[in-house]
Amino acid sequence: MRAYILFGIVIACFQSESVMICDICDCQQKSGPATVGVVVNCSSHEGLLEVNPILPDAFITLDLSRNNLTSIQPASIFQSETLVELLLNRNFLKEINLYSNRLPQLKRLDLSENQLEQLNPNLFKGFTKLEYLNLASNKFTAMSQLNFNSLVNLKEIILDNNNIGDDIETRPLFDEQGYGLPLNIQSISISGINLVNLNLEYFKPVDKTLRKLVISNNNLTIFVKLPQRLEYLDYSNNPIRNISSNDFYLLEPLVYLRELKLNNLDIEQVPQNVFSTLMLTNLELKDNKNLKEFSNLTFGRQLLSDTYDFYLENLTLRGSNISTLDKGLSVLFVKVKRLDLQQNPWVCDCRLSWLRKLSIAPDLTDDLRCRSPRYLYNKRIFDLDEKDFVCLKSWWNESEVGVTIGLVFYSLLVFVTFTWIYVFIYHPDPKVNRQEYSKL
Ligand SMILES: *[C@@H]1O[C@H](CO)[C@@H](O)[C@H](O)[C@H]1NC(C)=O
Ligand SMILES: *[C@@H]1O[C@H](CO)[C@@H](O)[C@H](O)[C@H]1NC(C)=O
Ligand SMILES: *[C@@H]1O[C@H](CO)[C@@H](O)[C@H](O)[C@H]1NC(C)=O
Ligand SMILES: *[C@@H]1O[C@H](CO)[C@@H](O)[C@H](O)[C@H]1NC(C)=O
Ligand SMILES: *[C@@H]1O[C@H](CO)[C@@H](O)[C@H](O)[C@H]1NC(C)=O
Repeated sequence: MRAYILFGIVIACFQSESVMICDICDCQQKSGPATVGVVVNCSSHEGLLEVNPILPDAFITLDLSRNNLTSIQPASIFQSETLVELLLNRNFLKEINLYSNRLPQLKRLDLSENQLEQLNPNLFKGFTKLEYLNLASNKFTAMSQLNFNSLVNLKEIILDNNNIGDDIETRPLFDEQGYGLPLNIQSISISGINLVNLNLEYFKPVDKTLRKLVISNNNLTIFVKLPQRLEYLDYSNNPIRNISSNDFYLLEPLVYLRELKLNNLDIEQVPQNVFSTLMLTNLELKDNKNLKEFSNLTFGRQLLSDTYDFYLENLTLRGSNISTLDKGLSVLFVKVKRLDLQQNPWVCDCRLSWLRKLSIAPDLTDDLRCRSPRYLYNKRIFDLDEKDFVCLKSWWNESEVGVTIGLVFYSLLVFVTFTWIYVFIYHPDPKVNRQEYSKL
């Protein structure tokens, strides 16, 4: 009997004993310029919600990623006057119920890499402070009818890798009946959502506000009209065949654009003046497998004579099909801090010898190799001497063949003309010849 009571007390103690979350998870006091408080990191802690742990005062971040959670229901752990950031990414969530009156300070919510197909239509109600929402890599489709009307202060949204392209084409992002994003949103990422056809004026409502747009990994064949305030644009991995200066200069140039990513497109050339109106610091043109021509006037003619306004720090043309570059570009390329020209089929002849004089970072020279001439095949350009870059003069040299053929024709013409003149003027009389012959 006594033992039974004791056992009961022990059980009761265990049940009422509260677990401090910082005894299980990693807690760190953080003080940044904008945020002061405790960051609670419970990443990869399964079964945490069952023990209903007690959170520290003034915690600002709660990381519950990789916890194998399947649903979020009201619990004391999701009630806080101080929580600013809630990370629920990399779980198996199918259902979420959060309430804005229990998390009045929430600014950042990460729900990426879960199994969400639908969201409760009232889920975001009242979350007027939310600035960042990540819904990437879930199972949303056109059926999900996503709507963010209540998130009036949203600055950044990530919708990558959900099959919602069709839906976004027909239900606009900036329409109350559509996705209802606020017009002062600054960053949108819609990568890998199966976009095929977007109205040219699609981003007009945010023409003066949008700073960052990621629209990579889709099936777009054209550039839409780009918002004027854009600072960052990633249009990579789309089957685009042509780029022109108009794409970055429709009515007004994109004077704020600093980072531009145009990797893995179907372009064959980067024509004159494409980037001449931009003031980029970072330009990526990687893995453009069909790209053969990079014009020496890509950045415009003016910059070649006065490079003061050339700000590019990082430039990559890696993994394209470029075999030579005009020496005129050297005045610009010499200013680039990280220049990646690796994995191109370089023809190491006199036209390319200028490349040897650039100071390219050592980690960007290993795959900078010659494709031809054959005796330099696969040699590293920076292992060669300048005198290795020669243009052989040979009889089959195209221009020499032209000159030779021209000379031959010219001589023939002269010969024929003079022969005719001789025949017409002197009318050499065959009789005379005969007489002369007879004299002999
Ligand atoms: C929590 O820890 C994991 C791994 O230990 C780390 O990847 C993650 O960034 C941390 N979370 C936060 C909010 O610092
Ligand atoms: C989540 O489940 C997988 C098996 O499905 C397991 O390997 C993994 O350890 C679990 N994660 C945690 C944090 O326990
Ligand atoms: C250039 O690239 C380096 C290394 O990748 C990076 O640290 C730096 O921020 C880049 N510069 C700009 C202007 O983007
Ligand atoms: C690369 O260019 C060469 C000719 O310069 C061409 O024969 C080859 O097909 C091109 N490769 C690709 C992938 O376009
Ligand atoms: C650009 O390259 C072409 C040959 O491809 C050359 O004729 C021209 O002079 C170059 N222009 C400048 C400004 O370097």
